[in-house]
Amino acid sequence: IDLVPMPQFFEVFSNKIFTLRIAKLIGFYVVFYTCLSAIFFLFLSLYLGTLDYEIPRFYGKGTVIGNKPGIGYQPWLIDDPDSTLIKFIPNKRSSYAHYVSAIKEYLAKYENTTNTRNCTGNESNLEIVRDWKLTEERKPACRFDLKIFKDFGCNETNDFGFAENKPCVVLSLNRLIGWMPTELEGEIPKEISDRYQKGFITFNCYGVHDWDKKNIGEIEYIPSAGIDIRFYPYAVMPNYHQPITMVKFNNLIKNVLIKVECRAYAGNIVHDIINRLGLVRFEIFLHDSIE
Ligand SMILES: *[C@@H]1O[C@H](CO)[C@@H](O)[C@H](O)[C@H]1NC(C)=O
Ligand SMILES: *[C@@H]1O[C@H](CO)[C@@H](O)[C@H](O)[C@H]1NC(C)=O
Ligand SMILES: *[C@@H]1O[C@H](CO)[C@@H](O)[C@H](O)[C@H]1NC(C)=O
Ligand SMILES: *[C@@H]1O[C@H](CO)[C@@H](O)[C@H](O)[C@H]1NC(C)=O
Repeated sequence: IDLVPMPQFFEVFSNKIFTLRIAKLIGFYVVFYTCLSAIFFLFLSLYLGTLDYEIPRFYGKGTVIGNKPGIGYQPWLIDDPDSTLIKFIPNKRSSYAHYVSAIKEYLAKYENTTNTRNCTGNESNLEIVRDWKLTEERKPACRFDLKIFKDFGCNETNDFGFAENKPCVVLSLNRLIGWMPTELEGEIPKEISDRYQKGFITFNCYGVHDWDKKNIGEIEYIPSAGIDIRFYPYAVMPNYHQPITMVKFNNLIKNVLIKVECRAYAGNIVHDIINRLGLVRFEIFLHDSIE
């Protein structure tokens, strides 16, 4: 390799014109980048200054968050997140204990009633959002009470029905900030007409295929009308209690996999299987097993 001899190397730098050029170049870049970063931080701070830390700017129709809720269910296992299968051996606690603890964990937040109030009559979370910017003093979120589920056989004593082979499944709408359910318009769908009440989001569950419909048995809805809309809209607030409803499968046929679909009904809930909106699917499998 042809190395440049040291003296010659320094000779290049000792050239005055060359040194001047380098200095100019360095000077240019220092000024350029200083201005660039100044502009960047100026706009960043302007943008951050307009952000609201509690209500996102882009929610609702036409945004990534959207305005059409999906449905979630419990028990959903954190260590098996892709599974939608609830599978257990009748009367064998070890086969369903993980579902029971998942539900228990999910429901634990409702036992914390700090920063909540007992909403009765026409009181609802709507007042909080309406008064948001008007008053410094915010009303606490409405408290969601689990008593009705306990009374109707979805409680810890009976392992949320699993101990009686009548599993309880929790259903809820995915939280969309600012979303408010509207009343059903026109004729009430036949499948919920005997349970629907004004001011509620009513749910309906059924077997997906004909054979599932035959195997699914009686389904109990707790409460029968579904979710009281007083807990909407959702806004970021301390200790928000997300409203839920439960379905209890009272006489599932054993040893067959049962595909279940549950739909929620309100004026502005759409049912879309492809995008999983307004409905949820899961499977239940009670199997007598020798393992
Ligand atoms: C709620 O009901 C009370 C009376 O019970 C009434 O004074 C109040 O105006 C009502 N509020 C709304 C928002 O309807
Ligand atoms: C709310 O208050 C009513 C009557 O004041 C009571 O019957 C009900 O149990 C209370 N609910 C909760 C969740 O504390
Ligand atoms: C729990 O559910 C069982 C089964 O339906 C019922 O007998 C019992 O009274 C319930 N327990 C409570 C504390 O509500
Ligand atoms: C209850 O919720 C509040 C938030 O509103 C929280 O600060 C508090 O630590 C919670 N208490 C318990 C026992 O988790």
